[in-house]
Amino acid sequence: MGSEYARLQAAVASVREACGLEPRVGLTLGSGLGGFADHIDMAACVPYEQISGFPVSTVEGHAGRLIFGHVAGVPLVAMDGRVHLYEGYSPADVVAPVRVMGLLGAKAIILTNAAGGVASELEPGDLMLITDHLATLVPSPLAGPHEAELGPRFPSMTEVYTPRLRTLAHEAAHEAHVALKEGIYLQMPGPAYETPAEVRMAAALGADAVGMSTAIEAVAVHAMGLEMAGLSCITNKAAGLSSAPLSHEDVQAVAACASAGFTALLAHFIARLGA
Ligand code: HPA
Repeated sequence: MGSEYARLQAAVASVREACGLEPRVGLTLGSGLGGFADHIDMAACVPYEQISGFPVSTVEGHAGRLIFGHVAGVPLVAMDGRVHLYEGYSPADVVAPVRVMGLLGAKAIILTNAAGGVASELEPGDLMLITDHLATLVPSPLAGPHEAELGPRFPSMTEVYTPRLRTLAHEAAHEAHVALKEGIYLQMPGPAYETPAEVRMAAALGADAVGMSTAIEAVAVHAMGLEMAGLSCITNKAAGLSSAPLSHEDVQAVAACASAGFTALLAHFIARLGA
């Protein structure tokens, strides 16, 4: 069996064949947030099927392509469509795209997602900057034989969401006239939404928002030593906190509604990352 690093290098080689742009920033676009792709001055677009060893997403609303281009003059690669554990992929598959963004040269990674609000002050449509996460309920992407190219055996997780980037995100929000809250993100395994009892558990554990992605990616990205920020679009109150049953369609619709603020914030944030 070949190493994970060798597999990722093959992916990097096939991406470089399709596009030579060296990204400074890597961005993942979460559920319903793919509209930001229209704000990228696109240089190339590489479908996941064309990338050696890349997992292909099966979820409706997740396109599955790497977009290369510029935002505010900053070279970036955006992952339009991520793959999730609940699709049956291994942890290594799930984090392969973010690792590839790092190996392509991105120095800062921005992870975005749609999430359910657990904290009472989080309302549908709010944007939340992730300050820390709980990844304990999902497997670690670092388990298995240690590959030093992808980080230390026992990486510190004290400051996963880079304080410098959090400051820049708040400055960008202020400049874009977008309200930006803060909170702790808990990754649940999915694909079912939580029960009200699980949401009470999330609150008791200290979570402000719950989702089905991001923390596992954040672990892999942080282990690689990259700067990182996480942004959640709160699409609903988590189960049991409002009378409405949850649906993927509603999650996507709210994310689409919030996308104007999200887009403005991201554009200002990326500009600051390039400065
Ligand atoms: N739970 C989990 N994932 C989600 C939610 C939620 O309430 N909303 C959007 N993604």
